[in-house]
Amino acid sequence: MNDKVSALLNDQINKEFYSAYLYLDMANFYAGKGLDGFSNWYEIQAKEEQDHAMLIYQYLQNNGEKVTLEAIAKPDKVFEDLMDPLKDGLEHERYVTSLIHAIYAAAQEANDFRTTQFLDWFIKEQGEEEKNSMDLITKMELFGDDRRSLYLLNNELSARVYTAPSLTL
Ligand code: FEO
Repeated sequence: MNDKVSALLNDQINKEFYSAYLYLDMANFYAGKGLDGFSNWYEIQAKEEQDHAMLIYQYLQNNGEKVTLEAIAKPDKVFEDLMDPLKDGLEHERYVTSLIHAIYAAAQEANDFRTTQFLDWFIKEQGEEEKNSMDLITKMELFGDDRRSLYLLNNELSARVYTAPSLTL
């Protein structure tokens, strides 16, 4: 594998685990506010991020590439109101999308078609994650100020269940 592509993928493992940590921090914030549905939603999001990390870890190993695990940074977001994690989540997903696109571009430049095909799933997944984040913000803008509506929204988010990623290696 091209050195740059390998290094970017290795770095992305860390970024995905950081994403998991960031979402766990958001789950923790909502748990502290008594919003167990929001907390559930972000706990599942954290699990999905761990899946993303493990898929890249496995992909590198399957291709005979050395994996180096680095320290995971402390989540650095400060949440002051119920909307903050939602907006930070969208901003973070847009950042992750830019990272995935950069790896894709490097793989394309290296004629690494196996990696571009592997990343196709992640590109689609990022589109879904950005949409989910935007939908949550919209719902909160519409209903967040009303306590009964917030209760119903919390119930809706408590129904989210974890499913394993559709991509298998
Ligand atoms: Fe793994 Fe939410 O990007």
